[in-house]
Amino acid sequence: MADFGYDVADYCGVDPIFGTLEDFDRLVSDAHARGLKIILDFVPNHTSDQHPWFQDSRQGCDAPKRNWYIWRDPAPDGGPPNNWMSHFGGSAWEFDPASGQYYYHAYLRQQPDLNWRNPNVRAAMMDVLRFWLERGVDGFRVDVIWHLMKDPSFRDNPPNPHYAPGQPAIARHLEIHSTDQPEVLDIIAEMRATLDAYGDKVLIGEIYLPVERLVAYYGAGLSGVHLPFNFQLISAVWNARNIAELIDAYEAALPEGAWPNWVLGNHDRPRVASRIGAAQARVAAVLLLTLRGTPTLYYGDELGMMDVPVPPEAVQDPWEKNEPGLGLGRDPVRTPMRWDTSPNAGFSDGRPWLPMGDGLERNVATETQDASSMLALYQRLLELRRAHPALALGDYEGVSAQGDLLAFWRRTPEESVLVVLNIGHEAASYQAPGHFRVLLSTHSSDLETGEDGTIDLRPDEGLILKPA
Ligand code: NOJ
Repeated sequence: MADFGYDVADYCGVDPIFGTLEDFDRLVSDAHARGLKIILDFVPNHTSDQHPWFQDSRQGCDAPKRNWYIWRDPAPDGGPPNNWMSHFGGSAWEFDPASGQYYYHAYLRQQPDLNWRNPNVRAAMMDVLRFWLERGVDGFRVDVIWHLMKDPSFRDNPPNPHYAPGQPAIARHLEIHSTDQPEVLDIIAEMRATLDAYGDKVLIGEIYLPVERLVAYYGAGLSGVHLPFNFQLISAVWNARNIAELIDAYEAALPEGAWPNWVLGNHDRPRVASRIGAAQARVAAVLLLTLRGTPTLYYGDELGMMDVPVPPEAVQDPWEKNEPGLGLGRDPVRTPMRWDTSPNAGFSDGRPWLPMGDGLERNVATETQDASSMLALYQRLLELRRAHPALALGDYEGVSAQGDLLAFWRRTPEESVLVVLNIGHEAASYQAPGHFRVLLSTHSSDLETGEDGTIDLRPDEGLILKPA
């Protein structure tokens, strides 16, 4: 738990603090009985330093599993083998005095990177996938998949010309040699083939790369991940023109037949309501669920949860501890789910690791009773998406971004749906081609659309429309 589960000591077990394998099996079967799928977070780039493989590897240069991890001699001056930095601050190399070598860790020193050039590592990790597939899981989200392969000659990363003080240490260099090596696609194809042998399973890759590199992870002939996570909405400058441009660029970059996806939030980045404000978070919900592709939503965002301030004495995240004060800590976005109005919002009888924060009226029980809540909005969006094939499967056709308005069509041969979003805090008028009926508004009272096609959007309003 040095990195809250991203430091795995046993790939085929459940940490006793969470339960047992029997609990897991029950989770899978109960979820399946409700028509839900279970996707596991698979962490193949690094293990825990407590993993028996690493315990063996660190026994010395001749240890049977020495080559399962990345060990290098010191630089001539005795320092680290190269300039690669850890994502959590400091050098990515940890010196082992007993053997006189360094091992590489892209994250914490308690998270040594596996050597994926070793065929035994590959085989062992494919066995791990099969272990969980045999237990009935529906797929995997693969942690930092673009990190798996490193430059075989371990060249220094070049400096990042855009680095600015206040950014984390990892941003000092461009990670061109420590990540995103072409050979990674072979590994991913092998993972994909492993899944495909079990039928209809999904492979999702966590990848932070520019769009033109991101789409390479669909693989030759779509042999790669089904969904290379598209995180652009998380870091987008929130204005209509910018969002329109990034959608168009992404749609244009997709390989033939590739299925898109959009991520609005995750456990590593500030919550959407904190990034763009509560009112625009509702517009963002409409955007997420009307764009073409699989949407990914982070728990609590469907309630409109905000980041919870975490005082220094309550900090858990190792990144915040290593690089304090830069606003990098991920605790504020990881506070407990809020179910109801009971103590700790019904999350736990025990004391949660992180503070519950304010605004506890944003909980499932309360929002279920309120037709104007964020939860109700998400439920209506999901219903609409199921009911309208144009929203689920239709083509995307960008219309325009005028001022604060972003408009696009989703179309199948049978159906057309128009989405108009006011990304601004002022009322704005949209001239639609003809008369339209409102399928959904972010605002509670219904809006009148003019016979002449004029639609007066209120501040921060998102609309889904159908030709009348
Ligand atoms: C990405 C995960 O999303 C993050 O939470 C974790 O700390 C790192 N990978 C390291 O595994």
